[in-house]
Amino acid sequence: MKKADLDWENLGFGYIQTEKRYVTNFKDGKWDSGEITSDANIVLNECAGVLQYAQTVFEGLKVYTTKDGHIVAFRPDLNAERLMDSCKRLEMPVLSEEQFIDGLEKLVMANEEYVPPFGTGATLYIRPYMFGSNPVIGVKPADEYQFRIFATPVGPYFKGGIRPLRLCVSDFDRAAPHGTGNIKAGLNYAMSLHAIVTAHANGYDENVYLDPATRTKIEETGGANMLFVSKDGKKIVIPKSDSILPSITRRSLVTVAKDYLDMEVEQREVLFEELGDFSECGLCGTAAVISPVGTIEGKGKEYSFQDGFEGRGPVITKLYETLTGIQTGQIEAPEGWIKRFA
Ligand code: PLP
Ligand code: COI
Repeated sequence: MKKADLDWENLGFGYIQTEKRYVTNFKDGKWDSGEITSDANIVLNECAGVLQYAQTVFEGLKVYTTKDGHIVAFRPDLNAERLMDSCKRLEMPVLSEEQFIDGLEKLVMANEEYVPPFGTGATLYIRPYMFGSNPVIGVKPADEYQFRIFATPVGPYFKGGIRPLRLCVSDFDRAAPHGTGNIKAGLNYAMSLHAIVTAHANGYDENVYLDPATRTKIEETGGANMLFVSKDGKKIVIPKSDSILPSITRRSLVTVAKDYLDMEVEQREVLFEELGDFSECGLCGTAAVISPVGTIEGKGKEYSFQDGFEGRGPVITKLYETLTGIQTGQIEAPEGWIKRFA
């Protein structure tokens, strides 16, 4: 298959429109069978549920070319499952895992020329999303919905290659206790826009959100979960909270650490005050993969990680290499992690 004429090695994390996307509509209580369309634009009534009351949820996953030339997705069943959880929380109709995977397969095959070649560092980022499409003016869920999936080829999420990121503790909260922090709803990101613009204006790469109830515990950043490495390099510590997104990357890294690297993994509440006890910190997510953190500033303090390392620290490097090795077919994956399309 001929590939699109793109400078694969130098892509940023931006939207590059491709020719094809998947679309299915929910009406009269059921989803239609779904199809590939060339139309990237959506025409909506002015009173559509998504426009008035932000009834929209999304997912993010990546498609890779493996070393031996197959086109694969990483754990898309978990994206389907998380989408269902998000839909239930926002009173939206669920889409079965079967239909999610079927739509993904159609989308990927229609965008084969945009799946970056192996070894370029680029990937095909996949964005599934659903929104309320019919008019609602009283506060209630819509009756009609659209689910779409588009693809866009991407490079690294953070500009400037692999470098230690500068984070700050946000003055704003991300998600209330018992709120929507554990689902992938657009509203969680709308609220983070002022915070990220402010962080960037102050010279930081990202925000760290603390638990809103006590503002003493680490939750996550605006677009990734966090993990920490103990000073002896033998243990990974992961913040546990009901209001953070259950990251598929982070859940996979727990398996990688335990089963591939023979490390101990502790999932527990992590206090901001104890950050000085860790040697490395990483941001983990589909877009971030595992990005190394250099410093976290907040409450008049600055904690720094990976003293003396230029890029990723030694433990984060091992985690990164093992995870990406699994994703690109160079290391044998646990059963069911890799969905092959071609
Ligand atoms: N946390 C937030 C707020 C995110 O937006 C993301 C991105 O999807 C993640 C964590 C990482 O989740 P995953 O590894 O499933 O991409
Ligand atoms: C992802 O990693 O897929 C996300 O949705 C994060 C977003 C900030 C790009």
